[in-house]
Amino acid sequence: MSPVFVLLGLLTASASLCNGRIYEDLRIIPSLNNYDYVIIGGGLTGSVVASRLTENSNTSVLLLEAGGSHQGAYYLEVPGLQSFTGPGTVYNWNYTSVPQINLLNNTIPAPRGHVLGGSSSINGMWYTRGSSADYDRWANITGDQGWLWDELQNYFEKSESFVSPADNHNISGQYDPSLHGTQGPLKVTVGGYSQSLDQLVMGRLDKQFPFIEDYDNGKPLGFGWTQTTIGNGTRSSAATAYLDKYLNRTNLDIALNSLVARVIASNGSRIDTVTFTNNGLLMNATARVEVLLAAGVFNDPHILLNSGIGNATELSAMNIPVVNNLPSVGKNLTEQPAISNLWNTTNPVTTVEAEAAYEQALTQWNNTRTGRMVLAISNTVGFTRMNTSDPDVEALVEQYGELAPGPASPHIELLPTVNAFDAEANFANAQFVLDSVNLIPYSRGSITLDPINPSGPPLIDYNFYGAPQDIQVMRQAVLSALAFVSTPAWQEFLAEPVSPLLAAVVNEYPNVSTTTMDTYIRASTSISFHATGSCSMSPEGAEWGVVDPDFHVKGVQGLRIIDASIMPFAPAGHPQAAAYMIAERVADIIKADNS
Ligand SMILES: Cc1cc2nc3c(=O)[nH]c(=O)nc-3n(C[C@H](O)[C@H](O)[C@H](O)COP(=O)(O)OP(=O)(O)OC[C@H]3O[C@@H](n4cnc5c(N)ncnc54)[C@H](O)[C@@H]3O)c2cc1C
Ligand SMILES: *[C@@H]1O[C@H](CO)[C@@H](O)[C@H](O)[C@H]1NC(C)=O
Ligand SMILES: *[C@@H]1O[C@H](CO)[C@@H](O)[C@H](O)[C@H]1NC(C)=O
Ligand SMILES: *[C@@H]1O[C@H](CO)[C@@H](O)[C@H](O)[C@H]1NC(C)=O
Ligand SMILES: *[C@@H]1O[C@H](CO)[C@@H](O)[C@H](O)[C@H]1NC(C)=O
Ligand SMILES: *[C@@H]1O[C@H](CO)[C@@H](O)[C@H](O)[C@H]1NC(C)=O
Ligand SMILES: *[C@@H]1O[C@H](CO)[C@@H](O)[C@H](O)[C@H]1NC(C)=O
Ligand SMILES: *[C@@H]1O[C@H](CO)[C@@H](O)[C@H](O)[C@H]1NC(C)=O
Ligand SMILES: *[C@@H]1O[C@H](CO)[C@@H](O)[C@H](O)[C@H]1NC(C)=O
Ligand SMILES: *[C@@H]1O[C@H](CO)[C@@H](O)[C@H](O)[C@H]1NC(C)=O
Ligand SMILES: *[C@@H]1O[C@H](CO)[C@@H](O)[C@H](O)[C@H]1NC(C)=O
Ligand SMILES: *[C@@H]1O[C@H](CO)[C@@H](O)[C@H](O)[C@H]1NC(C)=O
Ligand SMILES: *[C@@H]1O[C@H](CO)[C@@H](O)[C@H](O)[C@H]1NC(C)=O
Repeated sequence: MSPVFVLLGLLTASASLCNGRIYEDLRIIPSLNNYDYVIIGGGLTGSVVASRLTENSNTSVLLLEAGGSHQGAYYLEVPGLQSFTGPGTVYNWNYTSVPQINLLNNTIPAPRGHVLGGSSSINGMWYTRGSSADYDRWANITGDQGWLWDELQNYFEKSESFVSPADNHNISGQYDPSLHGTQGPLKVTVGGYSQSLDQLVMGRLDKQFPFIEDYDNGKPLGFGWTQTTIGNGTRSSAATAYLDKYLNRTNLDIALNSLVARVIASNGSRIDTVTFTNNGLLMNATARVEVLLAAGVFNDPHILLNSGIGNATELSAMNIPVVNNLPSVGKNLTEQPAISNLWNTTNPVTTVEAEAAYEQALTQWNNTRTGRMVLAISNTVGFTRMNTSDPDVEALVEQYGELAPGPASPHIELLPTVNAFDAEANFANAQFVLDSVNLIPYSRGSITLDPINPSGPPLIDYNFYGAPQDIQVMRQAVLSALAFVSTPAWQEFLAEPVSPLLAAVVNEYPNVSTTTMDTYIRASTSISFHATGSCSMSPEGAEWGVVDPDFHVKGVQGLRIIDASIMPFAPAGHPQAAAYMIAERVADIIKADNS
C-alpha cells in the first residue's frame, strides 16, 4: 500500500467518527507533494492558519497533527471537566520538567494538548489580552511597528465573537462591548453560572483592589469578570471554532496521528519537506510554497534541533548534522510561576454531597448546557501591582527599575476559585484557592534534546527563579493574596490554610520573614500553563532570536514559525488571546507575501 493510501485510509476512518460529514472530498488528494503549505501541528495557531489560508480555494494546505480528533470527546466539550484532560490522559503530551534547582529539585508538569485544537482543546479557557505595553514592548524589541497594541486590535477582534453566557444573565457592565469582536469564529463570554464566591470577591473591592469593567482595555489593573472561550455552555477551541465548519473544503487536508520528526531541504537550500510517521510508516510531505511550524513551545525546538537547526556545537555533540547554526533555538523559554494558596473553608461539604452535586451538574449540562459545568474555573480575576510603600518593593525597584513594561501593566495576578472538581470528581471539600501569579518573570529556561534519546521527549527546564528578581515579585504576589483575604468577611469564610507552610506565612503576616516566605514559595511554586518564548522573535539581522518579525526562521528559506513560541515576553495574563491574534496576523502576512 502506498503511503498516500494509508493516509487516505486513516482519514476516511476518522471521518466516520465525525458523522461522515467531514472528509468526503479526500479522494481528490493527488499526492503528498501537491500542497502549497504544510502546517506542522493542528493546535491553536495551526488550526487558525489552516482555516484562514484555505479561505482562498486556490490555496492548498496539509495540516499534520500528532493527536486524534477532538470531535465527540466529552471531556473536551464540558468546561467544568477540564481537569480530565491533564497529564496521563490521551489528550496530553504528558511532559514533565527536569528537576528545578530553585524549587528543592522538584519536577513540575509541562502539559500540552495532543489532539486537534492542541492546547486550546484542553486549556483553562481564560481569555485575557494582557496590557498594551506588552505588545508595544514586542514592537520595541523587534523593530516592527506592526506589533504595537493599536495595530493589533483588528486581529484580536477578528478572531472573536463575544456571546451571551449560558444563563443569559444581563452582562451590561461586566465587559466593554466596544473592545470585542462579534463576527469572529472564537466564542468568548463571561461566566454563565453565578457562585456565592462572586459576591465575596466583588464585595471586597476598594482603592487597593478596584473594580475593572473589562481587563482587555490595555490597562488591566483591578478585579473584573472573567472572560472565557466558551459558547452555549461548551468549550470553544481553535478546532471547534476554526475547523469544524470547513472540514469539507477540498483544499484542506487534515492528517491525524501524524507525528512530525523533522524538516528537510530536499532539493537545494529551501526547506520544503516534512518527515513524519503515520500508523508506524515513515512519510514525506512537501510544500510548494512554505512549511509552517506550529508544534508549540516545547515541540518546535524539538523538531528544529532534530532537523539540524540550533546551536552548532550542541548539535555536533549529539552527532546531528548542522543545517543552520541558530543558537537561540529552545533557549528563551519563559513561564509565569504560580502558587495555589489553599484554605479549608468554614462551610465544608461532605464527599456524599459533593458527589451528588457533581452528578446533578453533569445531568443538567447534558440536558441544557447550563449549571456549574459551564464554568471553566471561576467568575472573577484580579490584576494588580506590587505595593510600592513596602520597603522591599522600593529596594527592588531601586535595583531593577520598573519590572513591568509600563505603569498600567500588572505585576501580579490573583485568581480566586472554589469548588473546582478534581480528577476524582471531588469538590475538594469546598476548599478555597487564591492563586498568586508572577506575571513578569525574567528567568529564562530551555528546551534541549535528551542526549540519550534525541527523538524522545525534550528536556524542559523552566529555570524558575533563575533571575533573582522573580522570587522577590512572588513574595509580593503571596502578600497581595493575603491582603486580599484580610477583611472580616473573608476571615469568616476561611478556615485553616491546608499547607502548614502557608499557615506559617499567615501566622507571621504582615511582617513575614524572608525565610518563612521563601520556604513556602520554593516548596509550592508550579506553572501557570503559559510557556512561551522558546523560538523568540528578534529584529531582522540580530545575533540572537529564532524568527524575524515576519515569522521567517533566520538563516533558512521556506520555513516560518507561527505559534506562541515566538513571543519574546509573555503578555501579562493568559496567552491564548495573543496566540489567536498572532495566528490571524501571520495568516494575513503569508497571504500578502504569496499573492
Ligand atoms: C493545561 C493548559 C491550560 C491552559 N490554560 C490557559 C488559559 O486558561 N488561558 C490561556 O490564555 N492560555 C492557556 N493555556 C495556554 C494556551 O492554550 C497556549 O498558549 C496555546 O494553546 C498555544 O498555542 P500553540 O498553537 O502555540 O500550541 P498548541 O495549542 O499547544 O498546539 C501545538 C499542536 O502541535 C501538535 N504537535 C506538537 N508536536 C507535534 C509533532 N511533532 N508532530 C505533529 N504535531 C505536533 C500538538 O499535538 C498540538 O496540537 C493553557 C495551556 C495548557 C496546556
Ligand atoms: C484561482 O485561480 C484561478 C485560475 O488561475 C483564477 O481564475 C481565480 O480567480 C483564482 N481564485 C482566487 C480566489 O484567487
Ligand atoms: C499520555 O498518557 C496517556 C495515559 O498513559 C496515554 O494514553 C497517552 O497516549 C500519552 N500521550 C502521549 C502523547 O504519549
Ligand atoms: C538538587 O540537586 C543538585 C544536583 O543533583 C544537588 O547538588 C542539590 O544539593 C540538590 N538540592 C536539594 C535542595 O536537594
Ligand atoms: C524602546 O526601549 C528603549 C529602552 O527601554 C527606550 O529607550 C525606547 O524609547 C523604546 N522605543 C520605543 C519605540 O518604544
Ligand atoms: C441590563 O442592565 C443594564 C444596567 O444595569 C440596564 O440598563 C439594562 O436595561 C438591562 N437590560 C435588560 C435587558 O434588562
Ligand atoms: C446549544 O446547545 C443545545 C444543547 O445541546 C443545542 O440544542 C443548541 O442547538 C445549541 N445552540 C447553539 C446556538 O449552538
Ligand atoms: C461545505 O459545506 C457547506 C455547508 O454544509 C456548504 O455550504 C459548502 O458549499 C460545502 N463546501 C464544499 C467545498 O463542499
Ligand atoms: C524523504 O525525503 C528525504 C529527502 O528527499 C529522503 O532522503 C527520504 O528517503 C524520504 N523518505 C521517505 C519515507 O520517502
Ligand atoms: C552553543 O553551545 C555551547 C555549548 O553549550 C556554548 O558554549 C555556546 O556559548 C553556545 N553558543 C551560543 C552562541 O550561544
Ligand atoms: C533571550 O532574549 C533576550 C531578549 O529578551 C536576548 O537578549 C537574549 O540574547 C536571548 N537569549 C538567547 C540565548 O537567545
Ligand atoms: C452525560 O453525557 C455523557 C456523554 O454522553 C455520558 O457519558 C454521561 O453518562 C452523562 N452523564 C449523566 C449524569 O447523565
Ligand atoms: C481541611 O479539611 C480536611 C477535610 O475536612 C481535613 O481532613 C483537614 O485536616 C483540614 N486541614 C486543616 C489544616 O485543618
